[in-house]
Amino acid sequence: MKTEHAPTIHRADYRPLPWTVERIDLHFNLDPTATVVTSRLNCVRNPEVEAGPLRLWGDTLECLLLTVDGAEPAAAALRELEDGLEVDLAGERAVVEIHTRIDPQANTTLSGLYLSNGGFFTQCEAEGFRRITYFPDRPDVMARYTVTLEADRERCPVLLSNGNLLEQGELPGGRHYARWEDPFPKPSYLFALVAARLVVLERKAQTASGREVLLQVWVEEGNLDRAGHAMDSLIHSMRWDERTFGLELDLDRFMIVAVADFNMGAMENKGLNIFNTKYVLAKPDTATDVDYEHIESVVAHEYFHNWTGNRVTCRDWFQLTLKEGLTVFRDQQFSADMLAEAAGEEDAASARAVKRIDDVRVLRAAQFPEDAGPMAHPIRPDSYQEINNFYTATVYEKGAEVIRMLHTLLGTEGFRNGMDLYFSYHDGKAVTCDDFVDAMAEANGRDLDQFMRWYAQAGTPRLGARGEWNAADGSYTLRLTQHTPPTPGQAEKLPLVIPVAVGLIAPDGSDLPLQLEGESQPGASTRVLELKTAEQRFRFVGLSAEPVPSLLRGFSAPVLLELEEDDERLAFRMAKDSDPCNRWDAAQRYAERVILALAADLGQGRAAAVPEAFIRAFRSLATDEALDPAFRAQAAALPAEGYLLERMSPADPAALRAALRLLYATLGERLAADWLALCERLPVAGEYRYHPADAGRRALLNLALRYLAAAGNEAGLALARQRFGAAGNMTDRFGALAALVQSASPAREDALAAFHARYKDDALVLDKWFSLQAGAWRWQDDAPGTLLRVKALLDDAAFSLSNPNKVYSLLGTFFRANPAEFHAADGSGHVFWADMVIALDARNPQVAARMARALENWRRYTPALQASIRPQLERVLATKGLSPDVSEVIGKALQ
Ligand code: ARG
Ligand code: ZN
Repeated sequence: MKTEHAPTIHRADYRPLPWTVERIDLHFNLDPTATVVTSRLNCVRNPEVEAGPLRLWGDTLECLLLTVDGAEPAAAALRELEDGLEVDLAGERAVVEIHTRIDPQANTTLSGLYLSNGGFFTQCEAEGFRRITYFPDRPDVMARYTVTLEADRERCPVLLSNGNLLEQGELPGGRHYARWEDPFPKPSYLFALVAARLVVLERKAQTASGREVLLQVWVEEGNLDRAGHAMDSLIHSMRWDERTFGLELDLDRFMIVAVADFNMGAMENKGLNIFNTKYVLAKPDTATDVDYEHIESVVAHEYFHNWTGNRVTCRDWFQLTLKEGLTVFRDQQFSADMLAEAAGEEDAASARAVKRIDDVRVLRAAQFPEDAGPMAHPIRPDSYQEINNFYTATVYEKGAEVIRMLHTLLGTEGFRNGMDLYFSYHDGKAVTCDDFVDAMAEANGRDLDQFMRWYAQAGTPRLGARGEWNAADGSYTLRLTQHTPPTPGQAEKLPLVIPVAVGLIAPDGSDLPLQLEGESQPGASTRVLELKTAEQRFRFVGLSAEPVPSLLRGFSAPVLLELEEDDERLAFRMAKDSDPCNRWDAAQRYAERVILALAADLGQGRAAAVPEAFIRAFRSLATDEALDPAFRAQAAALPAEGYLLERMSPADPAALRAALRLLYATLGERLAADWLALCERLPVAGEYRYHPADAGRRALLNLALRYLAAAGNEAGLALARQRFGAAGNMTDRFGALAALVQSASPAREDALAAFHARYKDDALVLDKWFSLQAGAWRWQDDAPGTLLRVKALLDDAAFSLSNPNKVYSLLGTFFRANPAEFHAADGSGHVFWADMVIALDARNPQVAARMARALENWRRYTPALQASIRPQLERVLATKGLSPDVSEVIGKALQ
């Protein structure tokens, strides 16, 4: 195996460093092409570790000067390593001063210090700080920072860094400066600076204990009218964390800065969160309901990191899920609470379920495939080549599921007690996942040793279930089994602790009270069984008729449930299950079964038709006026194409697409009257407001348009055109446009052009325009392929390979969300993919690696597709100077 590109780092090799840094004094002389960074480190020997040199990491730095206690070290005391320096220090303390020069303009990786639209921004997680100055750039080195920024006043009127502003003033030559101090020790990955031309929306707020804090959202001139929702979201997040976990903002000032060039969603730098503009800017004319929702949850996520991530941080990067899984769980709970609050008491349960369903969709579409492929890893990986490749759906989303299972097993109060204990032990420290689970165990007097296997084992566990009804004694025995398939490097798996929330449904659809053998009386109608071994039986007694089991209610564990259910039973649960998540899931399972059968038939050139029973079941759910529109929009949305491909063996994107087209068109045609009636009833009157009730109506209406347009329904298409033209907000406008684009209607070109003309100067809206075209299906076999359109759009004036949002919108959508077009039989998509990955890798390895991952599960595809993909993978791997990021992805894919 080729390893020249990137050595493998192992979790087991962790050792504390002999020297750490107590204080760092940083000075930046900011210049676009020659920024000089002066760093004074107060180094302290770690008495618990055997003596050794000070280890400094550095990447693409020009070292101008290095002194130890004011003098240049002897030649032998300073050694150059491949990834930094090593300096011998004597005694217990030393002051090391380092001057480096960097070129922000040449930094196209968006890691370290870089330029965006003329301003200076940083991104240091995971290992970007070493691209700014030499430093022991590891999260277990926590130092107090003082930062002075010096820059041209005209170019950079605003100078920000972490913590509190100490002073600012003028300097000769049109320059000015600002000095910041962060009172909290932090790892280098949380350092940030911003020096740019920005304007601010600010508010004062009181914390629960009555301290006044200043909240700021910094955006580019002209965007102030889009900053309000982020500010509201920040205030809601503060209140929620005070209420739910007793956690208060610990700083006098909290800043959010929006930047247009950003690799990820956002970053939780202490007191100075830096965000992708996509997760800050919103106004009704430019952002959809979904955008508003995402902004709320990302603002919350980064804010919540202040405690789960910053106050208590990770000892090493293998522990990433310690902060990410926990913080995703927290933001999910926050969003669910916000939805429930807005919905009011009566509809709260349904509102929460809608959020839960969203989370499950993401997990199934993104994490399950990852767990079944060559990059499969436990939520706490054992090794990596490039840590940036491990900001994954597994670490984040499955990590959040693992925390959720703890919450389920311990209860709200037990979980809160565990959190309190965790902070009381570890505030101000860099710790491990074991420390977190230990605190949970101790606070609840529970043994969670077996639970820790969730941190160690990769792969999606299969949960098997079989029920046996005994009419003679009115008992129902549920036999649960578990097994986790092998993943790379992990052949054998041990049984996990799986919380299985169970209900039993009576023939009339009501929930039966549950009484397990040995219990004196029946209890609640949903209860959590703990499956701990490979096989376990649970005997329910006192039942008058054979029940239908409803398993994994609320999706109580991140597993694949293997339960034999015939169509009738699925239809029954679609109609009756009292758990909304399972009602939705029954619909998804039924749809999956129908789609895969259609795909098999169509793939073999056989005639195929959608079963009447499915149409009936689907129709009654989608049109059930007793149900909240947001829930119906979930229930009527088909499973994600990526998830379905994963369920198909071998994966045949063309056959799957043919099946989906047929299903869309059939449901559009057969339910046309219902969809049109919905379109009459659902429109929301009055001015746009972001509110879940309105959003649910808009979502269902837009879905109705989508089905109608897919069926080529004339009235539906006319309505889509009309709504597109007359829309008063982006959700309506974009929903109508999407319906037109996902149809054979010639009106789609005019609509796309009109949309472009209206928003041609708006980067975020143009991202939607790019993405819609990249995701477009072909509704007639002789229509030109989507690849041609994507290639043409590369040359659009608004497109740039240097801007991650543009790349994700156009290329990311094409590679990930349009498998049938990407995997066109002539292999043109695969050649294009390799060209793009190679081109991107030269400027931004993190973005390139994300695109590279689109083909990691290539062995699951048909032999013909595999034959077309393999040479392209090999071509990328053979590229000179390939980054460790891409080389890890492709290397593992080819292994
Ligand atoms: N900690 C950030 C978040 O989850 C993500 C930053 C990831 N950055 C990276 N280069 N991998 O909010
Ligand atoms: Zn995070």
